[in-house]
Amino acid sequence: MRFGIIGAGTIGSIISKKLVKTGHEVKIADARGIEHLEGKELAGTPVPIEDVMTNIEVLIISLPLTALPSIRNIIEQVGEEVIVVDTSNYYPGRDHKIAEIENGMVESVWVSNQLGKPIIKAFNNLLAYTLENEGTPEGTSRRIAMAIAGNDLSQKQKITDVVNQLGFDTVDSGSLTDSWRQQPGTPAYCTELTKEELTKALEKANKEKAPFLRDKVIEKLSASNFTPLANKDIVNMNREIYNS
Ligand SMILES: NC(=O)c1ccc[n+]([C@@H]2O[C@H](COP(=O)([O-])OP(=O)(O)OC[C@H]3O[C@@H](n4cnc5c(N)ncnc54)[C@H](OP(=O)(O)O)[C@@H]3O)[C@@H](O)[C@H]2O)c1
Repeated sequence: MRFGIIGAGTIGSIISKKLVKTGHEVKIADARGIEHLEGKELAGTPVPIEDVMTNIEVLIISLPLTALPSIRNIIEQVGEEVIVVDTSNYYPGRDHKIAEIENGMVESVWVSNQLGKPIIKAFNNLLAYTLENEGTPEGTSRRIAMAIAGNDLSQKQKITDVVNQLGFDTVDSGSLTDSWRQQPGTPAYCTELTKEELTKALEKANKEKAPFLRDKVIEKLSASNFTPLANKDIVNMNREIYNS
């Protein structure tokens, strides 16, 4: 398939490499100028942001949530037929407090409103390390699953097929309004679960408690001065706190 990616940070770059490795065509852009792509470890063709949305089937946006309103004018030019996928998560410490989300609006509903487009929420509930290193062929025992939310079933199916090629099972987590179940602070968030486990974790999510539990993990990480932890340790901490 033909992909455009906006955002060449950790996640955008990993996705670009995995897509190219599995035979897809990829163009990648930085929201602040093509010169920001210099020296980055990515795959595909670097392009200016104005060129990223032409002749593609899927556009993946991988930016801090707070940067998304700044690309609305670009996203408005994306063709109706293009599937728009967003990877973002809301962290108020990083993204600054957004009143609507603080008052209960589902993060991806806010994103979709800001972009003026329907979106598919995917890639948000796997840690970068997991996405880069823990993919396995279909049918492998204890294969990790990704949650995918969105309102358009046929778009979700296409993204499900791509994610399967990239090494992960998937769980349809419902409409965009249901996507709070895979937000930070929930048992489904960055806990490396199988399809069956993820299905149960999504059911178990508690909307009121999630922001508190999300902040508890950030507090623990900042108490250790963000000393790099092994992926397994982060996953175990997430499992413990998000299930409490
Ligand atoms: N890291 C993870 O484990 C993980 C996992 C799942 C989902 N996510 C979510 O996916 C999104 C991307 O994560 P990431 O870890 O790849 O982030 P990142 O490494 O910080 O990369 C962010 C990208 O956004 C650009 N950017 C930063 N501030 C911007 C601004 N104000 N305006 C326009 N562009 C800006 C950066 O470009 P420059 O190079 O120009 O600064 C960079 O290309 C986030 O919402 C994150 O929460 C992250």
